[in-house]
Amino acid sequence: MKILGIESSCDETAAAIVEDGKTLLSNVVRTQIDIHKVYGGVVPEIAARSHIEVINPVIEQALQDAHLSWDDIDGIAVTYAPGLSGSLLVGTLAARTLALLKNKPLLPIHHVEAHVYANFITGQAEHINLSLPSRQPAFPMLALIVSGGHSQLVLFKDHGDYELLGQTQDDAVGEAFDKVAKIIGLPYPGGPSIAEAALQGDSKKYPLPKAKMQGAYDFSFSGLKTAVLRAVQREVSVDTTFPSFKLPELLNDVQRKDFAASFQRVAIETLVDKAEAAFNDYSPASVVIAGGVAANQELRRELQDRLPITIEYAPMQLCTDNAAMIATLGCFYAEKVAPSSPFSLEIHPSLSMTKTAWSKPLLQN
Ligand code: KG4
Ligand code: ZN
Repeated sequence: MKILGIESSCDETAAAIVEDGKTLLSNVVRTQIDIHKVYGGVVPEIAARSHIEVINPVIEQALQDAHLSWDDIDGIAVTYAPGLSGSLLVGTLAARTLALLKNKPLLPIHHVEAHVYANFITGQAEHINLSLPSRQPAFPMLALIVSGGHSQLVLFKDHGDYELLGQTQDDAVGEAFDKVAKIIGLPYPGGPSIAEAALQGDSKKYPLPKAKMQGAYDFSFSGLKTAVLRAVQREVSVDTTFPSFKLPELLNDVQRKDFAASFQRVAIETLVDKAEAAFNDYSPASVVIAGGVAANQELRRELQDRLPITIEYAPMQLCTDNAAMIATLGCFYAEKVAPSSPFSLEIHPSLSMTKTAWSKPLLQN
């Protein structure tokens, strides 16, 4: 079964084709990072407009790269939740239109679930050169999902059968990386810039607090972000009313790198503490990390140090937003759930993973 995946929930326009839930035949990603960089974050209206401009060529490119025509495609999987409304609409409407025109089953995919499925890609066409794992993760699988919008620990018993163990009670960890980068004057997106600056910083220079949570597997990152803000203000000798956008110019390079390293250490320890607790309580057969923050080398190293089994993660390009993960999940989804109507599939901008369409297809004619 060959599934075309379409992703447009945030600031990447992507299309990919995956065969049988494991082999990547093409993977096209157009990122808008350069467009949003000047604003220090994603501007939703600009994101939606940019998706419109490139969605059709991106889909065409995915078919071309895979040397396939529409006749070879068995279904269209599209991110319908969660994400920015305008952005989700572009991908979903493109998928609905194509499903009608080309007479293909339409598969609505949850973006956060799909991040986990990047770990199921174990094969690739010759023209793709990713360093892929040799086998798919085994169930029960503990997934630490860490992105710009989500931070959660999920126990998968099988495809489409999972339990949300815990999640952030405020900011997502990627969001914290992005906001802290802004405070200390590092470019957007903050995750990679902080990771790079942290390589030369002293991670013990600034003591920062780790949040204590009620739920055994819950996270919080908003307090950590505020603690960085206060520590920066103290460091450059201004009071708490001093505007944060003026702080970067008062920091020198050494201070910036030390703040990046100190923040990154505590943010990662927070994630790893909870993942380790869940591992000990549930004894999963595999542990995967997924989402943009899973690209962080320090997180991979620290989690591996703490767990007795080999943790699994996808190559960097499949950790951040892409359509390969959408198409992969689409293959498994198609086996269990009836397709949705191309006439009525709606977007769900804030659908959490507790209300997935897997067990209860919400979206029938
Ligand atoms: O999964 P993703 O591409 O989009 C969402 O679904 O949110 O994740 C984007 C997030 C951003 O917050 C970005 O700063 C973060 O992932 N990120 C990283 C790294 N690369 C991307 N965070 C930490 N370290 C990285 N190397
Ligand atoms: Zn994502």
